[in-house]
Amino acid sequence: MLFAQQPILRRFWYALMPTAHLDDSPKPFTLLGEPLILFKGVDGKPIALQDRCCHHTAKLSKGFVENGNIVCGYHSWTYDATGSCVRIPQNPEGNIPAGAKVKSYHRDDQYGYVWVALEDPLQPIPPSPRTAPATAASSSSTRPGRPARCASWKTPSTPRTSTSYTKPPSA
Ligand code: FES
Repeated sequence: MLFAQQPILRRFWYALMPTAHLDDSPKPFTLLGEPLILFKGVDGKPIALQDRCCHHTAKLSKGFVENGNIVCGYHSWTYDATGSCVRIPQNPEGNIPAGAKVKSYHRDDQYGYVWVALEDPLQPIPPSPRTAPATAASSSSTRPGRPARCASWKTPSTPRTSTSYTKPPSA
């Protein structure tokens, strides 16, 4: 089994790209071998869906965003943030088959990045070192997330050389 096929990896969050990269168009991304399409909804939050139209399997990433939904570039079936098909232009009566849906994934916008988990995440998105509360080890450090330097630590005045090494007596 390939490393990327370990099922547990599908339950972690991954930062995929800066959220600003979705400002102009939807973007494809392959995560653990799974083709995704990322785009922004009407609220500006990222959406992550399977990059495969349920009609004739065209890549949704070749389509365009319209009112926060993704429109397939082939026959214009349209999917909302949940992956449900909400419009089939060839069907003016508006009847949409119950199975007309693509997979949607957990997604969030944190620290300016699009985060995605393919299945129910084991943990929340990890805190940024810039926003995490200070710990005892890092509270006196000048850089967040770095351990404090030991007060008694000093740079040796003369570097050690191989000639200063004395072999311990053998037993
Ligand atoms: S393949 Fe997407 S609408 Fe036909």
